[in-house]
Amino acid sequence: MRLLLLGCSGFVGRELVPFLLELGHTITLVSRSTQPFPALAGDRLLCLKLDPADPASWQHDSLRQALAGAQGVVNLAGEPIAERRWTPEHLERLASSRVRTTELLVQAMAQLPHPPAVLVNGSAVGYYGTSADDRFGEAAAPGDDVLGQLCRQWEAAAQALPSPSRLVILRIGIVLGPDGGALGKMLPVFRAGFGGPVGSGRQWMSWIHRQDLCRMIAAALEDTTYNGVYNAVAPEPVRMADFAAALGRTLGRPSLLPAPGAILRLLLGDGAQVVLEGQQVLPERLAAQGFRYQYPDLSAALAAATSPGLR
Ligand SMILES: NC(=O)c1ccc[n+]([C@@H]2O[C@H](COP(=O)([O-])OP(=O)(O)OC[C@H]3O[C@@H](n4cnc5c(N)ncnc54)[C@H](OP(=O)(O)O)[C@@H]3O)[C@@H](O)[C@H]2O)c1
Repeated sequence: MRLLLLGCSGFVGRELVPFLLELGHTITLVSRSTQPFPALAGDRLLCLKLDPADPASWQHDSLRQALAGAQGVVNLAGEPIAERRWTPEHLERLASSRVRTTELLVQAMAQLPHPPAVLVNGSAVGYYGTSADDRFGEAAAPGDDVLGQLCRQWEAAAQALPSPSRLVILRIGIVLGPDGGALGKMLPVFRAGFGGPVGSGRQWMSWIHRQDLCRMIAAALEDTTYNGVYNAVAPEPVRMADFAAALGRTLGRPSLLPAPGAILRLLLGDGAQVVLEGQQVLPERLAAQGFRYQYPDLSAALAAATSPGLR
């Protein structure tokens, strides 16, 4: 397929782009950087240096032509959530980088006589809010906290897609890979022998190995039976204490020292909520779809995500 990718230069994109190329697809990548993947650049990977959250970008002929010629679009654009304090300005960036980008993309698709056949759009398990005990399938109601509201707006922007195009929304869980995300932050601490659960340890972690997320995105693009919202998580969410213990076992290091949530709150303010509170999310629709995980089990996922040469 000819694909247009937004927000695919980061932690997920680093695995997604080479994977989609291996599958034989041709990619135009929109990024605020000049060429995020210089080693892969060639006939089947073009890069447009544009900000997809800026309306002016959508007036550029290069982007309009790439969208008009695309058969599928993947939109994962979004300012990182848990890296900085949530000041009002930062909250605005978190929202506009997701909601505005999605609105502009959908408006541009709506103007085409022959729009791309499919849009795979990001969302997150934060849609459901947080809970120590509830279990969330796709039909559960959204939470009314900051991330719940943000995800609802993000999805509503995607849902405005006109009907000839198929829409797949992935509510992504905690993505496991060695070079970023939550695991990327925990690994150095665990390797140094100072690892342990963060906060109470009782919060849920609904995780997904990055390779499985990439396989889900490819399936959503290629298989026309994928439609609507999917929880993009593995079938076995775990509590933080169990996650930390499994990581300690995988690395042959202790998981002893609980890191107090108060320190994280001091550093990240409200953003600490992403780590200190969680939600137990189940991939009901992926199970019904018959999606086959490469890493359904946490120990195998952690072993793969922490071994050089394996992904
Ligand atoms: N990683 C996880 O555990 C996880 C969990 C749930 C949901 N998600 C969602 O999945 C998506 C991809 O995750 P990721 O881990 O790959 O994120 P990432 O490494 O932070 O990459 C995010 C992408 O969004 C673009 N972006 C960042 N700030 C932007 C801004 N202000 N305006 C426009 N574009 C911006 C970047 O593109 P350029 O710099 O190339 O322009 C980058 O390619 C994100 O939307 C994230 O919220 C991730």
